[in-house]
Amino acid sequence: MGLTLGIETSCDETSVALVEDGRRILSNVVHSQVDLHKGFGGVVPELAARDHLERLPQLLDLALEGAGAKPTDIDLIAVTRGPGLAGCLLVGVGVGEGLAAAWSTPLTGVNHLWGHIYAAMLARPGLEPPLLGLVVSGAHSDLVRMPEHGRFEVIGRTRDDAAGEAFDKAARMLGLGYPGGPALDQLARTGDARRQPLPQPSLPGLEYSFSGLKTALLYRLRDLGDTVTEQRHPPDGDSSQIKADLAASFEHSVVESLLEKLDAALEAHPYPEVVVSGGVAANTLLRKRAAEVVGDRARLTMPPLELCTDNAAMIAAAGHYSTSVVGAVVVDPSLGW
Ligand code: KG4
Ligand code: ZN
Repeated sequence: MGLTLGIETSCDETSVALVEDGRRILSNVVHSQVDLHKGFGGVVPELAARDHLERLPQLLDLALEGAGAKPTDIDLIAVTRGPGLAGCLLVGVGVGEGLAAAWSTPLTGVNHLWGHIYAAMLARPGLEPPLLGLVVSGAHSDLVRMPEHGRFEVIGRTRDDAAGEAFDKAARMLGLGYPGGPALDQLARTGDARRQPLPQPSLPGLEYSFSGLKTALLYRLRDLGDTVTEQRHPPDGDSSQIKADLAASFEHSVVESLLEKLDAALEAHPYPEVVVSGGVAANTLLRKRAAEVVGDRARLTMPPLELCTDNAAMIAAAGHYSTSVVGAVVVDPSLGW
C-alpha cells in the first residue's frame, strides 16, 4: 500500500510522477530536453543538469495537481541514483533529499535499469517475476533474469555500443540529427533492407556487439559517395531512397541481433514472462519482431512508447519494491544492475 513520488533526471528527460501501490499511475509528467540539445547534435551534460534543476519545481506541482495529491499523502520518495550523467543525477537526488527532509518522508535511491523493467508492471499490473528481461536503451543492451522483486542477474550484454547508441550514431551518419533513434525508425519505414544488406552481428553466447555494424555502414556510405548524406548535397529522389534503405537495413541488423540472443536466452531460461523495455523498445520493427520471436513460448510485455523512454513513473514503481529505504542517496553514475 502507498503513494510513491518518483523523480527521474538521469539524462535528457526531466520527469516527476505519482504511482499508487507500485502499479497504478496517478500522474507522470515528462519534459523532454530535445529542443535544448538539438543544435549540438547530442546531449550536453552541463545544460541538461541545469535544465533539470530549473524544471523540477514546476513538474512537481503539475504531478501533484494531476494526481489530486498533497505532499502529506506521499509515503515514499523514489529518485534515480544511477546509471546516468553525474551532474543530472545530483540534481534529482538533491531535490529528492530536500523534499524528504522538508516533508519528513522516507527516501529511496533507484537503479534506472530496474526502472525500465518495472515500467512493464505499470503497463500490465498483473505481471510478476520470475521473468526474462531485455533492456535496450541509449547506454545498455542487457539481458537479465529477474527471479523475484529486487533481484536481477545479467546473463548477456554488449561488448561495445548499446543498441540505442548504435541507432543514434547511424542516424548521425545518415544526416538525421538528434534524437537519432526515432528519426531512423521513421525513415526505415519507407526503406527496403534487402536493397542495402548490412552484416548482422553475431558473437557467441549471449553477447552483443554493434561497433562492426556501425563501421560497415560508414564504409557503405563512403562507397556510395557524398550524395547520400544531406550535409553536402540536397538529396535527390535516388539518394533519399538509398538513405531509407540503409536505415531499414541497419535497423534490421540491430533488431535481429537483439532478438537472436533473446531467443537463445529464452531457450536456456524458459520463464513464463518476457519483458522488452527501454527507449529502443519504442522501435517499430523491434515491437513487431519481438512478438513473433517470443511467440507462444512466454507472455511478452513491451511497455507503451511513453513508458519505454525515460519517465518517473517507472522509478516510482521500482522504488515501491525497493527493500533499502534510506535517508541519504549515494549517486552512482556508473551503477550496474
Ligand atoms: O531509455 P532511454 O529513453 O534513455 C536511456 O536510458 O538511455 O533510451 C534512449 C535511446 C536513445 O538512444 C534513442 O535513440 C533510442 O532510445 N530510441 C529509439 C527509438 N526511440 C528511442 N531507437 C530506435 N527506434 C526508436 N523508435
Ligand atoms: Zn533509460
